[in-house]
Amino acid sequence: TDTKSQVQSEDEFKQGEIALQKDQLWFGYPLHFYQGFWCLNMISDITISFQTNFQAQDTDVILASLPKTGTTWLKSLLFSIVNRKKYSDVSQHPLHSITPHELIDHLEFEVYKNCHGNDLPDLTKIPLPRLFATHMPYLPLPESIKTSKCRIIYVCRNPLDNFVSSCHFWPKLDLNKGMKLDVNIMEEHLDKYCKGIFPFGPYEDHLLGYWKESMKNSNKVLFLEYEGLKKEPKDHLKRLAEFVGCPFSKEEEKGNVIDEIIELCSIKSLKEMEINKRGKYYEWFENKALFRKGEVGDWSNYLTPSMAKRIEEMQERLKEAGFSF
Ligand code: A3P
Repeated sequence: TDTKSQVQSEDEFKQGEIALQKDQLWFGYPLHFYQGFWCLNMISDITISFQTNFQAQDTDVILASLPKTGTTWLKSLLFSIVNRKKYSDVSQHPLHSITPHELIDHLEFEVYKNCHGNDLPDLTKIPLPRLFATHMPYLPLPESIKTSKCRIIYVCRNPLDNFVSSCHFWPKLDLNKGMKLDVNIMEEHLDKYCKGIFPFGPYEDHLLGYWKESMKNSNKVLFLEYEGLKKEPKDHLKRLAEFVGCPFSKEEEKGNVIDEIIELCSIKSLKEMEINKRGKYYEWFENKALFRKGEVGDWSNYLTPSMAKRIEEMQERLKEAGFSF
């Protein structure tokens, strides 16, 4: 009976844990725990539709990331690299009139939005290679992404800057109009962040899921760091182009094609574009919320040493798993 009561109490504990994992809020937005990650309630149907219906093709390229790790930047770079022949005249580049998120849609936000039953998006007319993005962790991705030859580009960012970036972004969403970020709000969300309770978290599971796949098969997953991209953009662009099967030619490397793409996709340049200053692609926030400072180490302007210590403990856990920044 001892063992039985122990099992019962373990069950109760688990149930308690599941109960605890219900109805969390992240800056006012409800989250639920779903297949190992914290899913925003507002996209739960779209997420399931994506998981159920998406059929990856061998030529697809999927950009994966946690929010606030450089997704917008990578969307601009990836689109520009793949389509560089079509838009060799930079002044005519779509980035001048279309926000990066519209150039590469998110599968669990835009692609499967408003899908009911058999009413699915026609993805067959998209020019090849099809470019998509997702914030979903690796494990719950649709099987066809894992088993086809499609490629995944993953970008991560150090959690200190990731958290601070997040704290600046979410108060700008329409639901939070007028919210002033203060130390109490930061402390409250730091606690959640460190427990993994934020959209698509936990952080460690997300990063390690893709990192482990990239270690197993570097032709399948290209693992990039925001900080590395900042430091050595040219090398990273070459790796990106090679990975997606359109390496820069010797002439391109000698000319200024790579530099032009870096310049066009820089935060300074994107921030200045009218579409990013005044447009609104997603219904919940204005495009300009996506562009803030784009710096490495900005966390030190916001986090006290004790706050930083809590996030550094996460970095320690990553180290134990074999990953360090
Ligand atoms: P900060 O808040 O630290 O400035 P995401 O695109 O995944 O939402 O990430 C947003 C972060 O990337 C923000 O970081 C934002 O300023 C930064 N960012 C946006 N465009 C960028 C670019 N072209 N180059 C570098 N960083 C960029």
